[in-house]
Amino acid sequence: MGFRPSTIIEPFRVKVVEPLPVTTRAERARHLERARNNLFALHAEHVTIDLMTDSGTGAMSQEQWAAIMRGDESYAGSTSFFELEKVLRDLTGKRHVIPTHQGRAAERILFGALVGDATDSLVPANTHFDTTRANVEAVGAEAHDLPVAEALDPQSDHPFKGDLDLERLRAFLDANAPRVPAVVMTVTNNSAGGQPVSLENLRAVRDLVDDYGVPLFLDCARFAENAYLIKLHEPGQGHRTTEDIAQEMFRLADGAWMSAKKDGLVNIGGFLVLDDDALATRCRNSLILTEGFPTYGGLAGRDLAALAVGLREVLDERYLDYRIASVRYLYEHLHARGVPLLGPPGGHAVYLDATRFLPHVPAGQLPGQAVAIALYLEAGIRSCEIGTVMFGHTQPDGTQATAALELVRLAIPRRVYTQSHVDYVAEAVGYVFEGAAELGGYRIVDEPPALRHFTCGFERAGAT
Ligand code: F0G
Repeated sequence: MGFRPSTIIEPFRVKVVEPLPVTTRAERARHLERARNNLFALHAEHVTIDLMTDSGTGAMSQEQWAAIMRGDESYAGSTSFFELEKVLRDLTGKRHVIPTHQGRAAERILFGALVGDATDSLVPANTHFDTTRANVEAVGAEAHDLPVAEALDPQSDHPFKGDLDLERLRAFLDANAPRVPAVVMTVTNNSAGGQPVSLENLRAVRDLVDDYGVPLFLDCARFAENAYLIKLHEPGQGHRTTEDIAQEMFRLADGAWMSAKKDGLVNIGGFLVLDDDALATRCRNSLILTEGFPTYGGLAGRDLAALAVGLREVLDERYLDYRIASVRYLYEHLHARGVPLLGPPGGHAVYLDATRFLPHVPAGQLPGQAVAIALYLEAGIRSCEIGTVMFGHTQPDGTQATAALELVRLAIPRRVYTQSHVDYVAEAVGYVFEGAAELGGYRIVDEPPALRHFTCGFERAGAT
């Protein structure tokens, strides 16, 4: 039998260290004031634990740094491009591999090419991420979210809350199929709590789109986490390798785009993969206009090389075991302290349920922002409101149109923080939760017309 540890250890040791900024509460109060309580306006050197995003914030491996040195910077026909193309063809089965500098560039290019001059296009998805929605709308199309009902219930522990509601999709396609250039599945479903999509749902969506002749695209920023959660939780999938599951996910789609800053394990990068020759030509023509030549697409050759390595490393099940376990670890420690959470633990983040965290603060007074500000003030932890600040808007009478859920995302960068950092976060969130009754709401004092959460200012509600 031998030693069977229950501790899941980080499957790496540290070779380069980066100092962690430490500040006092008084300093943090001043930084908040200067930032007008918008955590996007903080300087990173004033943040002790940065859980704002898992995007581009991961640590690369020694193999990736070695690949950086080998990167081929040729303008055309870079060897690093062909390495990446091979990895992506093996993984996705798609012929055309088009690199982009990050996910949203791929979104702009793909939706521009899919929608063309049509003025009445509709794009349904399990849930669009905010840049996806913005890029769908920027080409004059409408984005529609059709998640399963469980996705909107923070207390449901349905294991695949990323699924798309098949009945709603069938009705949608019945009514609108000629106007639908593509159906999108975001894996995992970031805006709805980093929740995975099941293979069963993906297969059923494939069957449905086939009935209507509509292509299916994956927004696959966190495909490996999704594939591993399928292996863990979907009946009949436990015996398969994560790579095999991921390959099936891609085979079920006509194409995919990726923000490689997540499961690509790189700090910058993205791509589009697809089979349709005519669509690929339109995408490449658009790529050349703003991103660059098709064998580098806005990236350095070394970035392509590091991504080729990252896409293989991310499917290592020892890595994924640690990754999913570390998110679950934070979730369970917060749960044990009674902190209200969106369940079950998903792929890349733990989401606090601000509605239950601050029951005395109405949605219009931005409870998620209030929790995020308190976490920074008390412990130097930066998180991200995903609620009315991000998805709501100010109505003509000055009140807020509120979001469906008021969440605070604690996103976990890949291979960056250790278990003691996570213990510190659990202790800090528990402390803020114990004092929650003392926390008040906020209001927005100035805001831009779109994507307001990045730049708006906040002050305490009730303050003048
Ligand atoms: N799609 C999904 C599902 C995402 O999570 C993101 C980015 C994008 C597309 C856009 O990619 O940033 O490379 O242009 N999500 C980050 C986040 C920003 O914090 O969740 P990008």
